[in-house]
Amino acid sequence: MFNKPGAKSASKKKILLSGIKPTGQAHIGNYFGAMKQFVNLQNSGNYECYLFIADYHALNLVQDASKMRRLTQELVLDFLAIGLDPKKSIIFKQSDVPAHTELAWIFDTIVTMPYLMRAHAYKDAEAKNKELNVGTFNYPVLMAADILLYNTDVVPVGSDQKQHVEYARDIAEKFNYTFRNETFKLPEPLIIPNVATVPGIDGRKMSKSYNNTIPLFATREEIIKAVMSIVTDAGLGAIGPDGKPSDGIPQNVYAIHKLFKSEAELKPLYEANKGKYKVLKDALVEDIDAFVKPLREKRAELSKKAEKVVAKVLADGAKRANKVASQKLEEVKRAVGVV
Ligand code: TYM
Repeated sequence: MFNKPGAKSASKKKILLSGIKPTGQAHIGNYFGAMKQFVNLQNSGNYECYLFIADYHALNLVQDASKMRRLTQELVLDFLAIGLDPKKSIIFKQSDVPAHTELAWIFDTIVTMPYLMRAHAYKDAEAKNKELNVGTFNYPVLMAADILLYNTDVVPVGSDQKQHVEYARDIAEKFNYTFRNETFKLPEPLIIPNVATVPGIDGRKMSKSYNNTIPLFATREEIIKAVMSIVTDAGLGAIGPDGKPSDGIPQNVYAIHKLFKSEAELKPLYEANKGKYKVLKDALVEDIDAFVKPLREKRAELSKKAEKVVAKVLADGAKRANKVASQKLEEVKRAVGVV
């Protein structure tokens, strides 16, 4: 009586889904932690990829219509500039697929408040005595809906999203148990260990909200400014790339540098230039700039016809995502008995 997950999919490919919030400029933490995996896995040909702009999640933070439109458009351009291809991947905007919020409501009726109160984001906000809106409290529920609507197998993310993927698994299991069916497949997070948490210029996790980012499409000037303000910690007690006391090797510079160059190349450079922070930072600037330049150029090219390009990608993606999501939602509605 119940459809097995994925039973209708003719494709043997695994299903990959991930989203990014349009809350500011994409940074190298987003890229190495998640976006790079989107491109690699898309190009592997082994995945059916759903990649989306999580605008309803962003609405918890961005409450300015023109800013929301601009950031959404920019993120689509970012997706295209790094090599996501609308012919290979389904690129869409969360708010264009109403099944996301509809499914989130259905989940709201089986998810308890104490369970959501264990979420890191909630606990952080509470610890800071911040007044939390319901959308932020409910964030993991909408995210579970995002993931589960597409029979997702893998969710490539940075480690800060691991708990959210676990919530999606728990919610899938609870739904299947409550309604005695197998509507939802359990997704797995895909987290690459050495880029699970990319550090920012202050050594904490790189994050738009900490103001410690290096933008992915930074100009050379922006790269110089960011790199020159990397906090250099090579003092007493700091640990070097070999696991021994660092002794003149600036840890934060090294940690960012190894995203762009192999450790085999970096170690001799850092050994030879112990304590010469300017030399090492200059080398890092060159390596970031060499990496970013082609991306920056491709993005500049795309942005000449931004409106047309973005509108087309999103319209096409919405059509394809809606087709899959609305079928799944029908299956859910049957399972709960509203149809
Ligand atoms: P967001 O927009 O905060 O971040 C997008 C992706 O970038 C990763 N990331 C990092 N990875 C490593 N090091 C860092 N410093 C770093 N900073 C960010 C994030 O882990 C993420 O993978 N809730 C999500 C958006 C979302 C989503 C989804 C993701 C909504 N629905 C469904 C997957 C599936 C978020 O806020 O990501």
